[in-house]
Amino acid sequence: MTALWVSLALVASVALLLRWQRPAWYWMTFGILFALVRVLGRYASVMDACGLTVPPSRWRLTLARMTRRPVPEARAPRILRLRPTRTGLVLRVKLRPGQDAFDFSAASDRLRHSFVMRNVTTREIRSGVVELRMTGYDVLKRVQMPALPDGGGMRVPVAIREDGEVYYRDYRQIPHALNVGATQSGKSVYQRNLVAGLAALDVALVGIDCKQGVELAPLARRFTALADNPDTAVDLLDALVGHMEDVYQLIRREQRLSADIPDAEITADIWDLPDRLRPTPIVLMVDEVAELALFATKDEEKRRDRIITSLVRLSQLGRAAGIYLEICGQRFGSELGKGITMLRAQLTGRTAHRVNDETSANMAFGDVAPDAVLATIQIPTDRPGTAVVGDSSGGWVRIRTPHLTLRRAVNTCNAHAHRTPEIPALDAFRPVLPPLAKTPTPAAGTAPAIA
Ligand SMILES: Nc1ncnc2c1ncn2[C@@H]1O[C@H](COP(=O)(O)OP(=O)(O)OP(=O)(O)O)[C@@H](O)[C@H]1O
Ligand SMILES: [Mg+2]
Repeated sequence: MTALWVSLALVASVALLLRWQRPAWYWMTFGILFALVRVLGRYASVMDACGLTVPPSRWRLTLARMTRRPVPEARAPRILRLRPTRTGLVLRVKLRPGQDAFDFSAASDRLRHSFVMRNVTTREIRSGVVELRMTGYDVLKRVQMPALPDGGGMRVPVAIREDGEVYYRDYRQIPHALNVGATQSGKSVYQRNLVAGLAALDVALVGIDCKQGVELAPLARRFTALADNPDTAVDLLDALVGHMEDVYQLIRREQRLSADIPDAEITADIWDLPDRLRPTPIVLMVDEVAELALFATKDEEKRRDRIITSLVRLSQLGRAAGIYLEICGQRFGSELGKGITMLRAQLTGRTAHRVNDETSANMAFGDVAPDAVLATIQIPTDRPGTAVVGDSSGGWVRIRTPHLTLRRAVNTCNAHAHRTPEIPALDAFRPVLPPLAKTPTPAAGTAPAIA
């Protein structure tokens, strides 16, 4: 008997320790089971308490009256599926007549407390079916990306969403994006995650980093072109616009519109071109965009206008030529001058890290998802890398990037350096680097020097 008590006490202490120190492990070992029992056991009463039941239908009342049975109870939505995941539970329910998905999103906070889950988000799967995604612990506290199969295409996993899912940056779906945030909010780490994700794909990376290249220059081996000051940036952008025009000429040549060509084979962008002809897609990363838009002298003003005009042209026309923009800055509003709001309007993807004022949050979401503005301002200072992402469809979600150190990003870029494509139009901007030093394989726990 004593042995049994000792074992139970041991298991309980292990569970408590895991819950405190390793919530992800706790969830996988004990948490899932407890949560399943709690959700299934309390389901009907919680739905009732949260106002998510419907009164019995007339025919059931009539039937009960005719058969002299007690009045039937209010009915909760029917459970279609309850699936445990790495981070929580996914509950799919069939709505009762008269209910709508908004009832569930409005009750998500009440559901969270009632089921003792960390977070509950809801979404409509199809008419009459709602999915509740619940997380069992704070997934944004210590971000761990799961091992993922090769996504392929132009889709890069960059962060974890608050509902436990992986957040992907998909360039073909959302070609251009804006990333704003106060200093030290995690913009550059977000961008570094993107570079590390893109490094393994067949894509050319072009960077403009006006902080003298401190963020992107260490990753230069995977960059086809790099500019670390506004003077080089203006020429680099001109060259990119020139390259874009060449790509359009190529598409135009291949665009045979004769009657015998099937519709699906008529080309309007690089993705419809045959593999052997398709130019490599380019992702242009701009860090600290405000540096490109500020000027003190007449000459700098001319340079600024050229830069903004090129960026606007790339954002308006670049997508079909396979040129995608990723623009980071602390602020990105009309105070940066002519052309900025025009450029912002083309940046469909919006990511806002912590900001210090509502105006900055408005720069990202004011024109697309006003309720995301409040969520952005509420990001705590002790959680760098947390951001709110949204798009022009009005939806938004909280995410947090894993803390990818510069050293690990450098190692990833160096490992994929052989993939760096050459683009003749951008040859003049190719970073000049010494050959990669052959470093001995590092022992576990140590990392090789940045080459
Ligand atoms: N996802 C993350 N998890 C943990 N810490 C992070 C994360 N992202 C950023 N940090 C921390 O925040 C610091 C600042 O991040 P980062 O350099 O990306 O900010 P920034 O927004 O680019 O700032 P600035 O505008 O000054 O360049 C990093 O050095 C790192 O210590
Ligand atoms: Mg930065």
